[in-house]
Amino acid sequence: MTKKNVLRTGIFSANLVSTDMLPLMDYFGSKHAKEGFKDDISYEVVRGEVLDVPVLNESRWVYECEVARTVETGDSTTFFCRIRNIQMIESLVCEDIFDVDLMALDPVIYSGRYHSLGKTLGKIGDYI
Ligand SMILES: Cc1cc2nc3c(=O)[nH]c(=O)nc-3n(C[C@H](O)[C@H](O)[C@H](O)COP(=O)(O)O)c2cc1C
Repeated sequence: MTKKNVLRTGIFSANLVSTDMLPLMDYFGSKHAKEGFKDDISYEVVRGEVLDVPVLNESRWVYECEVARTVETGDSTTFFCRIRNIQMIESLVCEDIFDVDLMALDPVIYSGRYHSLGKTLGKIGDYI
């Protein structure tokens, strides 16, 4: 259903998942839209700031995306997007892409199993 909606509207939001959101993400990713509304867990949805997309209040970092190119490979569809807006919580506001405090994001890392971050190991130049 998600894919159908992205193909229909050409826009979507990508809501990064922090460890405190894991039950919600696991639920969203396990219950199919065809099984009914995903309302067994409480959550808050607002509209995007730039695009008319649903955004999860719980997410610390959200991309509002507009599909620029759709590529079909076998059974997969890959959407390449123009990022029209990024929303983040204050503690994640950063100078540039090398300044992101991943510890503040506390992301869920998925490899077939769910993981969280370990330690901060330093920055570029620290090991020269
Ligand atoms: C951690 C996780 C990762 C997933 N990754 C994908 C994925 O990359 N591609 C995909 O098609 N489905 C993936 N799924 C399955 C979809 O989330 C699942 O089919 C979901 O019910 C789709 O919701 P919808 O029916 O509202 O579109 C993933 C599920 C979980 C829990």
